Amino acid sequence: MTPSAPSLPFRDKGLANTVAAETQMSFIDGAKGVLEYVGIDIDSLARQSTFEETVFLLWNRRLPKAAELQAFCASVRSEYEVDARVHDIVRALPRSTPPMHALRTLVSCLAHFDREADENSPEANRRKALRLLAKTPTLIAMFDRHRKGKPFIAPDRSIGIAENFLWMLNGARPTEAMSRALDICLVLHADHGLNASTFAARVTVATLSDMYSAITTAVGTLKGPLHGGANQEVMEMLLEIGDISKVDDYIMGKLSRKELVMGFGHRVYKAYDPRAGFLKTFAKQVATDTGNITLYDMSRRIEEIMAREVSAKGIYPNVDFYSATTYYSLGLDLDLFTCIFAMSRVGGWAGHCIEQLEANRLIRPQADYVGPHGVKYVAIAQR
Ligand code: CMC
Repeated sequence: MTPSAPSLPFRDKGLANTVAAETQMSFIDGAKGVLEYVGIDIDSLARQSTFEETVFLLWNRRLPKAAELQAFCASVRSEYEVDARVHDIVRALPRSTPPMHALRTLVSCLAHFDREADENSPEANRRKALRLLAKTPTLIAMFDRHRKGKPFIAPDRSIGIAENFLWMLNGARPTEAMSRALDICLVLHADHGLNASTFAARVTVATLSDMYSAITTAVGTLKGPLHGGANQEVMEMLLEIGDISKVDDYIMGKLSRKELVMGFGHRVYKAYDPRAGFLKTFAKQVATDTGNITLYDMSRRIEEIMAREVSAKGIYPNVDFYSATTYYSLGLDLDLFTCIFAMSRVGGWAGHCIEQLEANRLIRPQADYVGPHGVKYVAIAQR
């Protein structure tokens, strides 16, 4: 007899209608296109804050006083270096490995050199959050130098995360405008509710595993082209199109074949993604300053076509659309784009791990079994 399937409380494929956690970090109103970190709108933060201050805000749910920010920045900078044995691990990775694979491995490796890796007290988790925030840019820059056959550049404790990253990556001092442009992108990407990678991090930490495992899970989840991997694909698309005269045919062709246009659409926003709104103006400035205005013009044309064809479905540019042109204009390699997203989102992921553990409950949804029942086991020789 076939047993009847257990009745499930709620079927919600993709969990779009499920609230699985409480957060005080970011608020999203997808219908109105609003994003706030701890109640402060993203536009104000992008204009006036820095990445370090934004992370302090997310982790402490208030803005720091000047002395607190100074102390926080000093603590982050004191953690920039990674253990010498991590240098050897970076060198052992194949140069052809995509950087997001390298980052996933290297974030995981940090746990081996942290005596507090399995210490789950709130204080230890804050210290680990700080280490992950500080060391992730170092790992990305080191791997990029390794794959290009260049020597590692030691981090500079006298400068902030964005500037230090560009320094370690290029071995040349970035201009103030370049550092600030990257810093703004880091502010915009730092947190975004219960997105897929943040959810993955919370699921991992909710088992009382450890923060390194949670951030490793999150890096792997961010990598997918439906999530953080889209920024690289946007840039590949722009380069493939190559010229503004080819944009219309390319995009109309994609839509007629029912293919996705990367950098558009969002699970939560059915209005303009406010991060994309800010980045659009910003990308234009950076593209003008760096001689890449044709890429920006192509992006604008893609947006016009998408607005005409699919905005009725609530599909607008998302954060990845204009961040792609911005990163490209800053001279960053395409396959580093998602790593830079990760470098910022570590702030959000770690904050969510801390928050999850403040009122933890194992996250364990149910699956609706749709397979057969009562199937006889057939011995291997009879199959
Ligand atoms: N291009 C063309 N059509 C689209 C797109 C797109 N980028 N996104 C959604 N649609 C269509 C989709 O085909 C569907 O059409 P129909 O109703 O005719 O079948 C409709 O819009 C609804 O889409 P959906 O798949 O139900 O939306 P979703 O909420 O499941 O997916 C998404 C959201 C982000 C996965 C999807 O929009 C997408 O794949 N976008 C491209 C990838 C991308 O840019 N990802 C970055 C997201 S923002 C950064 C981040 O948070 O990681």
